[in-house]
Amino acid sequence: MNQILIEAKDLKMYFPIKKGVIKRTAGYIKAVDGISLKVYEGESLGIVGESGSGKSTLGRMLMSLQNPTDGDVYFHGERISHLSNRKVRPYRRDMQMVFQDPYASLNPRMSIGELLEEPLLVHKTVKTKAERKQKAEDLLEKVGLSKQSYNKYPHEFSGGQRQRIGIARALSTNPRLIVGDEPVSALDVSIQSQVLNLMKDLQEEFKLTYIFIAHDLSVVKHISDRVAVMYLGKIVEIARKEDLYEAPLHPYTQALISAVPSTDVTIQKEKIALKGELPSPANPPRGCAFHTRCPHVHDRCRTEQPQLVEYKEDHMVACHLYTEPEVRMD
Ligand SMILES: Nc1ncnc2c1ncn2[C@@H]1O[C@H](COP(=O)(O)OP(=O)(O)OP(=O)(O)O)[C@@H](O)[C@H]1O
Ligand SMILES: [Mg+2]
Repeated sequence: MNQILIEAKDLKMYFPIKKGVIKRTAGYIKAVDGISLKVYEGESLGIVGESGSGKSTLGRMLMSLQNPTDGDVYFHGERISHLSNRKVRPYRRDMQMVFQDPYASLNPRMSIGELLEEPLLVHKTVKTKAERKQKAEDLLEKVGLSKQSYNKYPHEFSGGQRQRIGIARALSTNPRLIVGDEPVSALDVSIQSQVLNLMKDLQEEFKLTYIFIAHDLSVVKHISDRVAVMYLGKIVEIARKEDLYEAPLHPYTQALISAVPSTDVTIQKEKIALKGELPSPANPPRGCAFHTRCPHVHDRCRTEQPQLVEYKEDHMVACHLYTEPEVRMD
């Protein structure tokens, strides 16, 4: 079995909702509500879910960019949540994030060289100016850009090229883990697969571990070994990619998969339409949070929250269709 690189134990992030002039707390947005997961060294874990399901919040907590309301994150067995900035800094080098918007995430006033060298200066990993320049030029080549890009500025590049720069910047500290928060969502479909292929190649070359966030199952299909599906701050299913795409268990995953366009025209999938809107994470439904939209809802789902349990080997699901009712002792 591979080593665990990062582990989350019962992570919660509740954002207070402030009301009125005295800003009293009127409730909480449960952005992440009790997530436990393990990410193994060298694997690629996809995290999918609709907008607002808590994916980015989870990603930020795993990287210790945000402290959880409750629960803990461990990196190589060491707790990295609830630490001071100073104590968490040594771990930051090992974990880098690639963001969705390559336009917003690169400072337009910095040259590409400065952008790539900044993390090296912060972490003091490379000593001299000449070494830093060499490293920046090497990184540019690794992501398929020319050395001449070094003196240029972000606006001189296309979206796909800027995302390559974002990836080079993330690589500059020799991280173990890269969290990609929808790194290709803002790019044209034709460019998406180029950037995904690049990320896959770099993963192999640098033995990286990936957490890859997307709202669309088709994007993570190519790059993930395992996939976790989120709904209203919880993981409802997590499995190896093949199992999840070929034999999804949770009705929500089944609906998401039915919406993925098939590349095989001979397969006519029936699209499962979900009724209603995504409920607010400030006021999630009782029982199973998905029950208001579930085609298989039954009485128990309205009152009792299903736990995420291992239904088959390496395949966990949180759904009453797969659990026995609790034996009452009264
Ligand atoms: N700093 C914050 N303060 C208050 N609420 C927040 C904050 N950050 C996120 N939220 C809320 O938490 C919930 C989850 O947000 P998050 O950004 O993690 O979702 P997401 O799955 O990444 O969505 P998207 O696909 O749109 O990026 C949302 O309801 C969001 O409005
Ligand atoms: Mg997000």
